Amino acid sequence: EKIATRVFNSREEGSKYVAKVIASLIREKNKLGKPTVLGLATGSSPLLLYKELIRIHKEEGLSFKNVITFNLDEYYPMDPENKHSYYRFMYDNLFSHLDINPANVFIPDGTVAEENLDEYCADYENKIRSFGGIDIQVLGIGRSGHIGFNEPGSLVTDETRLVQLNSITIEDAANGFGGEENVPRYALSMGIKTILQAKKIFLLGWGEAKSEVIKQAVEGEETTQVPASFLQRHSDVLFVLDRPAASRL
Ligand code: GLP
Repeated sequence: EKIATRVFNSREEGSKYVAKVIASLIREKNKLGKPTVLGLATGSSPLLLYKELIRIHKEEGLSFKNVITFNLDEYYPMDPENKHSYYRFMYDNLFSHLDINPANVFIPDGTVAEENLDEYCADYENKIRSFGGIDIQVLGIGRSGHIGFNEPGSLVTDETRLVQLNSITIEDAANGFGGEENVPRYALSMGIKTILQAKKIFLLGWGEAKSEVIKQAVEGEETTQVPASFLQRHSDVLFVLDRPAASRL
């Protein structure tokens, strides 16, 4: 295996493990009066992690006031108030339940005019750098091998930019959007390079449907055909898996 993996009995257990690591870092940084910078993902994979972070906030009193977050991606074009936006997803499933300062929440803006996108994306990168980079990046993985919305063909040198969604991704998103024809064709996404600059990375992989692409990422050659395989270059990445997702390793 070219990437470290840890297999849990359930996605609950795996999610709790990652939540614990994130919570200890926040606690440590809070004591020092320093911000914690998190890179966050959407989709179903991180849902139980977010649930557990909310529980830790409510039951253990962990404060998120010093936490800065950068989301990986957003559909384009997409209004933040649209029920399909990743903006809504993040507030509904995490931010609304925490004491996080909305000024510390960064999510790519799907309403930026096309002619301003280059500048906007460069600015997103600069903002991450201005906080000293991402301490912990949370990832899911798409069946296409994507991380964020870095579809097959993405390069290890890619930064935040406008990307085109591939057909597997559109198919997988179709249910939520009530049909393939309603799925946006584009997205804004952090690049592989952006992701690899994070100090620590957890990729959450659950279920049999992800087992094939997880095998390719963990055991295959690095290839733009499986963008997650570029994680092999990172020195502190862990794939957090349940048994079905790890079944082909
Ligand atoms: C979406 C997101 C990815 C996510 C992936 C997997 O398209 N842009 O960040 O990791 O698909 O989704 P899920 O976690 O629902 O399987």
